[in-house]
Amino acid sequence: MKKEYGFTAKIYDPMLYLALNPIRKAVMRELVDHEESRILDLCCGTGNQLKMLSRNGFKSLHCLDLSEQMLEVARRGDHSIRVHREDAARTGFRDNEFDIVILSFALHEKDRQTQENILQEAHRILGDDGLLLVVDYIFDERTSGPGRFGATTIERMAGGDHYSNFKRYKQGGGLSTIIDGKMFSYVKSTRKAYSVVTISTYRRREPS
Ligand SMILES: C[S@@+](CC[C@H](N)C(=O)[O-])C[C@H]1O[C@@H](n2cnc3c(N)ncnc32)[C@H](O)[C@@H]1O
Repeated sequence: MKKEYGFTAKIYDPMLYLALNPIRKAVMRELVDHEESRILDLCCGTGNQLKMLSRNGFKSLHCLDLSEQMLEVARRGDHSIRVHREDAARTGFRDNEFDIVILSFALHEKDRQTQENILQEAHRILGDDGLLLVVDYIFDERTSGPGRFGATTIERMAGGDHYSNFKRYKQGGGLSTIIDGKMFSYVKSTRKAYSVVTISTYRRREPS
């Protein structure tokens, strides 16, 4: 993988703290009854979300990313999170190994094929009735002007394929067009960050 998070890894958490901290807390609230669950954060970046869960009593936490620079930050600190450097589209985990998979700000920056591969992998490694929590952008009539502006500015700064994929995600209808209803059934969602971010919960389905 090219080192696209090489420099960003060092400044990612402090730079995005104000925007991301309320979202991290909202994700934790969604998981409040799942402290004992086996949780995997796919494309975890700096592990910021799982570190918050770890500080709050969650026990079985796994963090997976491809970027060594991001994972270097994830490993820092006093926590028991297990860190894996692997491709989210093709992990070494067994079938049905997790109760909950988190995909946070991961899908919008990927091309369509990679999005599908990652979701198929999440489906494979989730147990029966497992939950998929997707945190990502949403652009619809409820999305505010400041929300649109903020998200687009951040993604434009990322540039390259990342920004092209974001634009495709935004124009193509976002999350609802990516999640395959045969694999995951929609449970609920909440909005954050001027309504440009959705925390959406899906339940794994056994394809018929
Ligand atoms: C925008 S960051 C999001 C990080 C984190 N989930 C968050 O909420 O802040 C996207 C992450 O996806 C990782 N990534 C990109 N492609 C990946 C792949 N195929 N497998 C695993 N991680 C990948 C990047 O290294 C980066 O850390």
